[in-house]
Amino acid sequence: MLGAVQKFGQALFTPVRRILNRGFGQELNPLNYLGALTIYFFWIVLISGIWLFIFFKTSVVGAYESVEYLTNEQWYTGGVMRSLHRYASDAAIITLLLHIIKEFVYDRHRGMRWFSWVTGVPLLWLVIPLGITGYWLVWDQLAWYVALTSAELLDWLPIFSESMARNFLSDDVLSDRFFTLMAFLHLIGLPLFLVFGIWLHVLRINGPRINPPRALMAGSLAAMMAVSVAYPALSQGEVDMSQVPSSLGLDWYYLLVYPLMKLWSPGWVWGLLTGVSLLLFVVPWLPPLGGKSPAEVDLDNCNGCARCADDCPFGAITMEARTDGKAYESEAVVDSTLCMTCGICTGSCPTATPFRRHSALSPGIDIPDLTAASLRKRLLEVSERLHGERRILVFTCRDNAKSVRLESDLNKSETAVVDIICAGQLPPSFIDFVLSRDLADGIVVAGCPGGDCQYRFGTEWTSLRVSRQRDPHLRKRVNTDRLALGWEQPWSGLGGIGNVVSALRESLPLEVLADITPPLPEPAVSRWKIPIILTAYALFAAFVGWLSVWPRFQLIDEGKAMVSLSFSHAGQRIRECRRLTQEELNKLPPNMRKPEDCPRERLPVQVVFRSDGDILYEVNRRPTGIWGDGASNIYRRLSVDAGKQHLFIGMTDSGADNHGGPAGEFDFHLEQTVDLAPGQHLVVEFDDIKQSFVFRQD
Ligand code: HEM
Ligand code: SF4
Ligand code: SF4
Repeated sequence: MLGAVQKFGQALFTPVRRILNRGFGQELNPLNYLGALTIYFFWIVLISGIWLFIFFKTSVVGAYESVEYLTNEQWYTGGVMRSLHRYASDAAIITLLLHIIKEFVYDRHRGMRWFSWVTGVPLLWLVIPLGITGYWLVWDQLAWYVALTSAELLDWLPIFSESMARNFLSDDVLSDRFFTLMAFLHLIGLPLFLVFGIWLHVLRINGPRINPPRALMAGSLAAMMAVSVAYPALSQGEVDMSQVPSSLGLDWYYLLVYPLMKLWSPGWVWGLLTGVSLLLFVVPWLPPLGGKSPAEVDLDNCNGCARCADDCPFGAITMEARTDGKAYESEAVVDSTLCMTCGICTGSCPTATPFRRHSALSPGIDIPDLTAASLRKRLLEVSERLHGERRILVFTCRDNAKSVRLESDLNKSETAVVDIICAGQLPPSFIDFVLSRDLADGIVVAGCPGGDCQYRFGTEWTSLRVSRQRDPHLRKRVNTDRLALGWEQPWSGLGGIGNVVSALRESLPLEVLADITPPLPEPAVSRWKIPIILTAYALFAAFVGWLSVWPRFQLIDEGKAMVSLSFSHAGQRIRECRRLTQEELNKLPPNMRKPEDCPRERLPVQVVFRSDGDILYEVNRRPTGIWGDGASNIYRRLSVDAGKQHLFIGMTDSGADNHGGPAGEFDFHLEQTVDLAPGQHLVVEFDDIKQSFVFRQD
């Protein structure tokens, strides 16, 4: 099932990657830098955020005013910075989501990669609240809705004894301290955790790409600037708690779950969030990646050169003090719990050479499942079956093997395929071996397309090794005209490895020119390059701006008003207090003598709210506190028809069940005819001093 989802995801990603490769080229393809781009957008957010903070006032009145000042009076700096701050945060969510989806669909989350995956999940729980607290700080109508709904969500958790949402129902309850707390969370608390989280997330990866290439940074910044100037981020009106805006421009990147609160109870929303998180946590083991034997070091052939440790993409190799008494300083040691069995270390080991005559081919480091010796044996076997003037041997990583086989049916006797685990497993000396022994006329090394190697660096290291820029170099005597790399596809050959094979076959020099070493051919520049790049940035910017405020969210339906029931009231004690007799008092130690014996526990409080006789809300709320001795909290937001109507609220705190009963049977009640305008907000409170209900319509 998950396999089918992965295949479907790949089918969506692959064409997009091909198009982007055509414009950006594989070195700059944004899909290869999704994690790094996310970090980069956070940098923009940080720098623009510092600017905003300089002018931000952490108070109920000052917050909105200071943001308005920045947006309108200082639009050329503050306004642009505000928009950049918003849009870069949104862009970070897009790249983050694509990052997660891509790691999953390309199966880069199982095996030792579970660590990056599992440490990634809590990052979501940091990033989203970071955005939410940001929206909160602006203190406009959207902020009010976010504050109220977040508080309703938090109130569901058994953390606070008092209702937090109550703070957002009238201006006089809200304090400046709250803004200081939000500013602390948004500017210091959550970002610090995020930095730590990202550090942990990439901890186990060797050479994580945390910065995208400069050209991508410049392009992404320009795209964000463009959307900021064309479509500045604006506040959505000053908060007026007596009036509910009918609709709001919602940032769907951060506030996606909030509209669910209109349909579901907070419990269901928490259930969904917890369920998705738990599912994400276990995905790396659905099913577990097993049955692969890790790389093994053969000390007899290891000279401690450390190339394998440098090249291992997963940090699975460390160089440690020599244990076999040989004259070398160190030896390679593989941590089998980190090894992904990619074979890239064999490709980097100078002792993995097929030219050995006197000793068996046993490199310093090898993969038991597919040893260098078995590779040489296999290529000798298949090359014997090759015939013709332009015989081509294709080394292909297993992920590509199937497609290559299908495509290279072109000419079976002239083409042969040898599977390796990853392109990076092939030591360059094997290429020299094949060509110098005339086992084939040309070689194609095929790897993951688009420069996006399944094992992170396999294709990159191979490109560098054969172009003699990274050890072990391909020997100078090898004529690279006879070599093609299957991921550096010329644009004429967009269709895949089959085309690379054909292109190489056609370009092969027929006579062997021993000492010619021309450079590897540069991929042709596509005339679509600039249009593709511009369209990609424009689409990205438009997408960022679009979901940032649109589609608008209908907070309350047309012709409706809002009623909030919000109060706490302690039920009566479960039984009456009893005066102790003198005899009983005498028995007690002097410091514990109280004239009355009162039970701590209180009765639940029952509340009924009716409009024109119809019950809109009814609850029997237990007291808070572990001993059941606290007040019962009543909080509920209801949507009611606007217009004239007869409202009734009744409460019993004495344990009697007054379900639907007449008003007089309630311990407290209030009924009143009110005329509610559409969008009006009425708050039902209980005045503890006067011991009576109040309908507040201010
Ligand atoms: C703030 C959010 C995140 C940032 C900034 C981030 C960034 C990164 C970076 C820079 C890398 C290294 C990429 C490379 O060099 O190949 C990486 C790897 C990875 N990330 Fe994330 N990531 C984030 C969230 C997540 C989440 C939520 C998940 C999944 C639930 C995830 C899954 C992975 C995996 C599986 C890898 C390992 C890839 C590999 O081994 O090839 N990341 N991330
Ligand atoms: S590359 Fe080979 S020789 Fe060098 S340290 Fe690794 S195993 Fe030893
Ligand atoms: S097989 Fe790959 S992951 Fe394992 S040690 Fe070698 S390079 Fe590292």
